[in-house]
Amino acid sequence: MSNHSREQWSSKFGFILASIGSAVGLGSIWKFPYIAGENGGGAFVLLFLLCVVLMGMPVLISEIVLGRSTQRNPVGAFRKLAPNTPWFITGYIGIIATLLILAFYSTVGGWTLTYTLDAFTNSFHQITINEAESSFTTFISHPFIPIFWQAAFLILTMIICYFGLQKGIERTNKILMPLLGILLVILVIRSVTLPGAMEGIHFILYPDWSKVTVSTFFEALGMAFFSLSVGAGCMVTYGSFLSKKENIPNAVGNIVLFSTLVSLAAGLAIFPAVFSLGYEPGIGPPLVFITLPAVFAQMPAGGFFAALFFLLLTVAALTSAISLLEVSLRYTEDEHGWTRKKGIMIISTVIFLLGIPATLSYSSLSDFYTVSGLTIFDTLDFIASNVLLPLSGLTVILFVGWKWGVPLLLKESRGDLGKDLPFKTAWAFVIRWITPLLIVVVFLFQILSLLQK
Ligand code: PHE
Repeated sequence: MSNHSREQWSSKFGFILASIGSAVGLGSIWKFPYIAGENGGGAFVLLFLLCVVLMGMPVLISEIVLGRSTQRNPVGAFRKLAPNTPWFITGYIGIIATLLILAFYSTVGGWTLTYTLDAFTNSFHQITINEAESSFTTFISHPFIPIFWQAAFLILTMIICYFGLQKGIERTNKILMPLLGILLVILVIRSVTLPGAMEGIHFILYPDWSKVTVSTFFEALGMAFFSLSVGAGCMVTYGSFLSKKENIPNAVGNIVLFSTLVSLAAGLAIFPAVFSLGYEPGIGPPLVFITLPAVFAQMPAGGFFAALFFLLLTVAALTSAISLLEVSLRYTEDEHGWTRKKGIMIISTVIFLLGIPATLSYSSLSDFYTVSGLTIFDTLDFIASNVLLPLSGLTVILFVGWKWGVPLLLKESRGDLGKDLPFKTAWAFVIRWITPLLIVVVFLFQILSLLQK
C-alpha cells in the first residue's frame, strides 16, 4: 500500500467540474429523456428529483467524505476506516460496477462517436425517419464496425486517463464541460423556439400522473443513482483527491444542481423538437439515434445542430468514462502498486473483452438472452445499474449512518473553510433511516419484478 502524499485537484472548481463531468453522461442525455418519455414526462421528473434529494445526495456526500478523509480508493478507504471487517467488500462492488458499466457504456460511446463524425460530414442531410431507422439498424447490426468504434471510444478514454489527474482528467473536464454547457444552451434555444414546441415543453414539465406506476418510482431511483454516478466508487475516488480545506456539502450542492439541470435541459433540447415535428416521444432507447437525426434533418441548418448534439453526447460520455476507468486504476495503483500504464492496458483490455458481447447484443448475439429476455447488453446494465449501484450505495449509507457515525460524517464534510450542513438533524435522520429503507424497498422490487417477467 502506498504512503506517498495523495495527488490533488488543482482547485475546488476542477473537482466540481470533474464530478459534474462524471455525473453528466449517457445516463443524463441519452437515458433520462427516453425513460422520462416512457414514464409520463414531468411526473417522472418530479419523482426523479425526490430520489435525487432523498437517496442520491446523502450517498454522494458520504462517498466523497469517505474518499477525502481516507485519501484512498474505495477498497482502501473501507480498509482504513474499518480494518479487519468485511466492509471493504463495498469497494469491490463499486469496482465491479465500474467495469460492467464501462463495458456497455463503450458500446453506446462508440455509436455516439460514429454519429458525431457522420453528422459533421452531413450524412443526415434530409434523412427521413424511416431512413434514419434503417441506417441505425444497419449500423448496430454490423458484426465488426460497432466494435471498431467501441475500441476507438475506449482508446480515447485510456489516453485521457494516461495523462493523470491534473493533466488528463481535470484538464479535459475544464475544456469539455464548458463546451458541453454552451452546446446544450444552443440546442435548447433551437428546440424551444420551433413552431409547436410548447407541446414538448409541456410534456417534460407537466406531470401526467396517469402514466405513473409503481415501477416509475423504481426507474426514478435507478436513474438518480446512475445519473449522479453514485454507488460505483467514482465519487470516493474523486473525493480522495480533494483538499481538506473544501466544504463538501457545498460542492455536492453544485454537482447535484448542475447535473440535474443538464438532464432537464437535455429533455428540453429533445422533446420540443420531437413534438414540433410530430414524432413519438416514448420510443425508448433509439429516440436519440433514430428520431433525432430525422428531427434535425427537417430544421434549417439541421446538419449543424445534429453535429453539435452528437458532439455533446460524445463529450458527456467521455467525461463519465474517464471517471469509471479511474476507479480501478487507483485501486490497482494504491493497493497493488501497479503503474498507471500497466493498469490502463490490463483494465481496458478486460473492459473491451466484456464489452464485445454487449456490442454484439445488437447483431450476432441479438437472440441470445440471459434471464427474463435480457440481452447481454441489458444484463450488464441491469446487474450494474439495478443491483450493484444500489447495493454499494446501501452499504455506504449503512456504514456512515450506523458504523462510522453521522457526527463524524458531518465533521469531516465541513472542511477547514466551510460551515456545517444546513438542517443537520433532518439529514442525520434521512441518512440513518430514510435513505437505506428506500433503497432496500426499491432493490427488492427490482429483483422481484425481474423474476416475475
Ligand atoms: N453518471 C453517468 C451517466 O449519467 C454514468 C456513471 C455511472 C458514471 C456511475 C460513473 C459511475 O451517464
